[in-house]
Amino acid sequence: MAAVLDQIARYRLVPVVVADSVAEGSFIVDALAEGGLPVAEITFRTAAAPDAIAAIAARGDILVGAGTIVSPAQVDTAVDAGARFLVSPGFHPAVADRAAERGVPLIPGAISASEIMAALAAGITTVKFFPAETSGGLPALRALAAPFGDVRFVPTGGIDATNLDSYLAHPRVMAVGGSWMLPRDAVEARDAAPIVRATSDAVARVAA
Ligand code: 3PG
Repeated sequence: MAAVLDQIARYRLVPVVVADSVAEGSFIVDALAEGGLPVAEITFRTAAAPDAIAAIAARGDILVGAGTIVSPAQVDTAVDAGARFLVSPGFHPAVADRAAERGVPLIPGAISASEIMAALAAGITTVKFFPAETSGGLPALRALAAPFGDVRFVPTGGIDATNLDSYLAHPRVMAVGGSWMLPRDAVEARDAAPIVRATSDAVARVAA
């Protein structure tokens, strides 16, 4: 489990993918990989998510996870499809328990001290600070990080090329999540160039 989180910590970026079909999911991960980021969180906001995850997992060259996981049943569906990590918008003990049973790391949402304490009680030390920008942004993350010295954060929600650097600069930010690398109009037009451009820009900022 820790090995997958370590991989995410190396890439420091978690692209949040909404794929309306398996083909759309494949197009998106191809563009992300071309931009230097072979990582994707495929959200369970579309019915295509499990099949898209299965197709991407079968390629073997992408670190694929599942997002918007809100129930233990979705944990099973995602893990059965081949998801290597799980992301939730919030914290629920039943979701955390099932993920632990399946041996797959879960990054649950947490924007308060109580939510972080609930995650810690479930043995989880990496949380998604979501929705980041409307929950106080970096100042709030900084304030929350202070009392929880062992917790790493994946801020997500409202982050893009304009504020990415400031989040990346915080020492307790393990990775930054978001959809800004995947402009919806480009996805729908199957126009890879804007995705590759936004992705390689983000990858370059991580490296800087
Ligand atoms: C998510 O579920 O992680 C968010 O929808 C991503 O937020 P963003 O679209 O503002 O990047």
